[in-house]
Parts: sequence; structure tokens; C-alpha cells
Amino acid sequence: MNGLSLKWKYILSTLLILFIIIGVFSFSNLKFQERLLREDDRERVELITEIIKNGLVTIMLEGRGREFQKFLESLIAEDIEEVRIFDPKNGTILASSLPNEIGKKIYPEDREKYSTQRNPEVFIHKKDGKTVYSMLLPILNERPCQRCHGQNDRIRGVLDVEVSMKKTKERFDALRTRTFVFSLLTFLSLAIALAIVTNILVSKPVEALIQTMKRVEGGDFSVRLNTQRSDEIGKLASTFNSMVSELERAREEIQRCHLEEMQRIEKMATLGELAAAVAHEIKNPLAGISGAIQVISEDFPDGDPKKEVISEVLKEIERLDKTVRDLLVFAKPSEPKKINIDIESVVDKAVSLVKARAEKQNVRIKTSYQDNIPQLNIDPQQIQQVLLNVMLNALHEMPGGGTLTITTSYDNHAVTISISDTGHGIPADELRNIFKPFYTTKHTGTGLGLPISRNIIEAHGGEITVESELGVGTTFKIRLPVNG
Ligand SMILES: Nc1ncnc2c1ncn2[C@@H]1O[C@H](COP(=O)(O)OP(=O)(O)O)[C@@H](O)[C@H]1O
Ligand SMILES: [Mg+2]
Repeated sequence: MNGLSLKWKYILSTLLILFIIIGVFSFSNLKFQERLLREDDRERVELITEIIKNGLVTIMLEGRGREFQKFLESLIAEDIEEVRIFDPKNGTILASSLPNEIGKKIYPEDREKYSTQRNPEVFIHKKDGKTVYSMLLPILNERPCQRCHGQNDRIRGVLDVEVSMKKTKERFDALRTRTFVFSLLTFLSLAIALAIVTNILVSKPVEALIQTMKRVEGGDFSVRLNTQRSDEIGKLASTFNSMVSELERAREEIQRCHLEEMQRIEKMATLGELAAAVAHEIKNPLAGISGAIQVISEDFPDGDPKKEVISEVLKEIERLDKTVRDLLVFAKPSEPKKINIDIESVVDKAVSLVKARAEKQNVRIKTSYQDNIPQLNIDPQQIQQVLLNVMLNALHEMPGGGTLTITTSYDNHAVTISISDTGHGIPADELRNIFKPFYTTKHTGTGLGLPISRNIIEAHGGEITVESELGVGTTFKIRLPVNG
């Protein structure tokens, strides 16, 4: 059964059930009909016997004793086999439709039957290979009989009538054949109807579904099923259609993301090379300028307003230098030097570095670390740089105080460090820009902190994500795999 298709499983099991039901009903109906036929026959035999008895009694009462034997012989019609009268006392046959039987003994079974029956009734018995209905009816020695036969015996004799079962058998056979043919036809027509209906209602749509699924499997997302039906198949079709649409959308989305990612990587590569070249070009002259200005500054006495200007220039040079350094890190990220270390210690170190600034700004730092986090294989310097970037960004958003919350958690073989601020939040349309290089909203910003952070986290096999709500705050989540 396992190798069969659903259609055949369904058809064969339904047919088996139908076969059993039709079989049981036909059989019990046949038995019922047979019983009716048999009862009819019994009544008929009873009637025949009664009529014969009355005929015999009439003949006797009318004193036509000589016609008795003739009457018996005349009774042998097509299904009355034998009629005889025997003496209940010794079983001797007194009269018979077969004259040569007279004087012989009756069959012992008939005597036995007669002596045990309470009321005369029709019974079936086998005789010389034939099955016959039989009835043993005592002829009572009634008053009119007693005129000739005296009062000695209560019973004059027993009338034994045997009627052939040939007709009954023929009727039974016809009934059986009819029932069999009828059941077979019913079964066959139901089977054909079932096969056709199953084919139209189930097989065809399922086959169409399978074919369509195969096309989808082959990458053709443009196919759709007919959804006009309102039954389960129709629902299945529309669910399937929306699934395919969803798949199509997802595939387009993946392709788009992939394309964007490729463009980003390409852009980064060229940008990175350019940035590295520019940074190298700037770095050395900048060091020279810085040194020269420091020398010039020594020529002015303390408190000279020009010295103030010069120190401003030095600060700007320092900022330029930082930008150049950031650019170099971004353009040529160094390979992470990974060691096994507790993430808690790295987070703690970063927190201690921003503590002073947080206090100055009136920002409260809340930390909550999950216990028993397994060690991570990471470059602590780089991860600390990422944490610092994110924490400093957060502090920048809370100039008038607030709360910086840092938590660690572990699940699904990865550690998540979450850094939340209570700053202004980031508008939804800006969220997608913050990881782009040189995107900044600050006068003194380089717009490289987050792109560098993302590079580092991705080099560790992790990811950095952001969620933000305007007026509530921003949360950065850094996820690092434990075996990374
Ligand atoms: N916690 C934060 N809340 C609000 N804006 C943020 C936050 N962190 C980053 N940003 C936005 O992302 C921009 C890019 O950040 P970053 O790459 O670190 O560069 P920079 O700090 O030099 O501006 C920031 O200028 C700021 O607009
Ligand atoms: Mg920054």
C-alpha cells in the first residue's frame, strides 16, 4: 500500500469498505429473502397437507373407500412427491401413492419424528439424495369415523406428505444469482463513479499543484494556481499562491540586498584604497606642520593672544590627525589578534575609560552582566574600540545627563552586548545611513566610528544592529559568536 499514490490508496480503501458494506447487506438481505421464501413454502406445504387430509376424510365419510387409493395416486403432481398413510402404532404403511409401498414399514426417521413432534409441522429431510418438505398429520378418529372404525383408536392413521424442494431450490438459486449480480453491479458502478469523482475533484488539482510546485522548485516564481474553488483544494491553492508570492518577494529582497552589499564592498574597496593613499599623503606633512607650529609657539610668551590662536591651530591639527588615523584604520583594518577572554573584562575596561566623561556630563552608567558566559575568542583591543565608539556616540547624545545601560547576555552560542542611551534617538530615515562611512551629524565627527566598528564585528563573525525611538533613546546590539 505504501508505494501507491494517494489517489489509489483512497480509492482502494473506500472500495474495500464499500465491498464489505455491500457484501454484508446483500448477504443479510439474501438470508432474509430466503427465510421469507421458506416460510411461504412451509405454509404452502401445510395447506396442501390440510387439503389432502380433508379430501381423504371426505372420501371416507362418503363411504367411497375404494376411491381412496386412486385419490392418493392422483395426487402425484409435479412437486408432491409422495403421499402415504401409516399406522402410528407399528409404522406399517396403510395406503400410499406408491402402491408397492403398502404393507411395508415407514422410514424410522419419520416414525421418530412423529413420536417427538408436539404439533404437526413442516420439516425438511433428506431422502434418497433428495431434500423434501415433509409433514406428518395425524387423522383423528372423530365421531363420524367411529361409525365404521369403532372407538378403539384415537388416531386412525398418520398422513405423511412429501413435497419436493426443487422449485424452492430454483427460486433460491435465482435469488442468489440476482443478489450477486445486483451487488456486483452496484459495487462496480460505485467504483467507477468513485474513480471518476476522485480524479476530477482530487487527483487533477493535486497533480496540477505538484506540477506547479516542481516549476517553483525549478526557480519559476511566476506560476500561480487557479483559486476559483472554495473547498480545501482551493484554499490550498491560494495558500500556495501567497507562499510563492512571498518567496518571490523574498528572493527579490535577497537579490537587492546582495546587490547593495556588493556595491558597498566595491565602493569600500576603492574608497578604502583612496582613503589610505590620501591619509598617507596627509599624515607626514601634518606631523611636520604640527612640529613647526610647536616650535613657533615657543617664541611667544605665555598669555600672548597669538599663542592662544596657535594652540587652537594645534587642536585642529590634532583633530585632522585623528581623522587621518581613523581613515587608515578604516581603509586598512588590521587582522584581529584573537585570544580567549571573558567579555565582562573587556566591557569593564571600556566602561572605565568613559566613566570620567560620563560623570562630567551627569550620565549614570548602569551595567548588568549575565553569569556564566563562556569565554570568547576575540581581539580585546578591537572589541574595546568598538565598545568605546558606541559608548562615546551615546554620551554625545546625552549632553544634559541621562542613563547609559550596558548589558551582556548569552544564548544560542552567541553573546550579545547591548548599549542603550536615553538620548534623542535617530530618525527612521537616518538609521540606514549611520553605518555608511563619513556619515556624521557632528561638527567634529569623522563619520567613521560606526563603519569601523561594523568591520571589526563582522571580522569576528558577529553583527552589530541598532534600534532607536525618537525621544526615548537608542540601543546598539553587538552579537559575537562564542566559537568565533
Ligand atoms: N547613540 C546614538 N544616538 C543618536 N545618534 C547616533 C548614535 N550613535 C551614532 N549616531 C549617529 O550616527 C552618526 C555616525 O556615527 P559615527 O560613525 O560614530 O560617526 P561620528 O561619531 O564621527 O559622527 C553620528 O553622527 C550620529 O548622527
Ligand atoms: Mg562616533
